[in-house]
Amino acid sequence: MTQATLQVRVAAKTIEATDICSFELVAIDGQTLPLFGAGAHIDVHIDVAMGDGLSRSYSLCNDPRATDHYLIAVLRDPASRGGSVAMHERIKVGDVIRISEPKNHFQLAHAAEYSLLLAGGIGVTPLLCMAERLHNTGASFAMHYCARSQDRMAFTQRLAASPFAAQVQLHFDDGDAAQKLDIAALLAAPKAGTHLYVCGPSGFLKFVRDTALAQGWPSECVHFEYFSAELATTTGDQAFDVKIASTGKVYRIAADRTVTEALAERGVEVPVSCEQGVCGTCLTRVLEGVPEHRDYFLSPDEQARNDQFTPCCSRARSGLLVLDL
Ligand code: FES
Repeated sequence: MTQATLQVRVAAKTIEATDICSFELVAIDGQTLPLFGAGAHIDVHIDVAMGDGLSRSYSLCNDPRATDHYLIAVLRDPASRGGSVAMHERIKVGDVIRISEPKNHFQLAHAAEYSLLLAGGIGVTPLLCMAERLHNTGASFAMHYCARSQDRMAFTQRLAASPFAAQVQLHFDDGDAAQKLDIAALLAAPKAGTHLYVCGPSGFLKFVRDTALAQGWPSECVHFEYFSAELATTTGDQAFDVKIASTGKVYRIAADRTVTEALAERGVEVPVSCEQGVCGTCLTRVLEGVPEHRDYFLSPDEQARNDQFTPCCSRARSGLLVLDL
């Protein structure tokens, strides 16, 4: 993860729904916080309070015009890698934690004539921010928010009280059929100038994205962000070689090391951020060899071209990859 650069104090911790807590973060010296765009996230380092080195990315979900605080929301997921449980159980009001400056891999397309926001579960967080921004700029949009049940849906009061409440529809998996979202019908017949933004668990996101592309949405109008990447199975991973084109040096990538880890250990630094194949920060051109793609960043077409890959998580199908580094 990128080094955190800001210290903030937890000013409020609020239960927003079953297993979802929000955290309001303010600068400790009372200064303003860096501006951010809708869709941005911060990396939260949890080590100051707990003595270990967890670092996780969370989308900012407050109005992007605010400079006095950031708001994040965290779903407690015992099956995750520990960050969400630590946030729920160990971070409390008054704690000082380190965060990165906001980064944005999920930006609004400002040329859009109409925006359709689709949220699944905790994936609502960046889309809330987008809805605020679109409303503030007078842009035309609609938002659909799906959750397993009403008690698991966060920010319903905020949405109901917002000036754009009429543009938001809520859908529950356990509700009656009439209120369920028919994604195929919603995405049928895409109109020119409409952009689709999707965030949620991987199954929801993949379904929306595949449906949109199958219905003829141009891929450049379909924007998505995984709430969290599912970790690929690493059992059976093999070692392979990577050659750096600029130096001609060849490095062995052990079965239990990622390409970025193995190269960093030998002094070859590739910039990384999410380290889960989500953000595209590490994207590297492949000059020879066939990568095994494990990312969520490239489209299926881009992956099929095999001329670039994400070395933070992807591996090789061939014995050697030559990288444009
Ligand atoms: Fe985010 Fe590799 S660091 S995709």
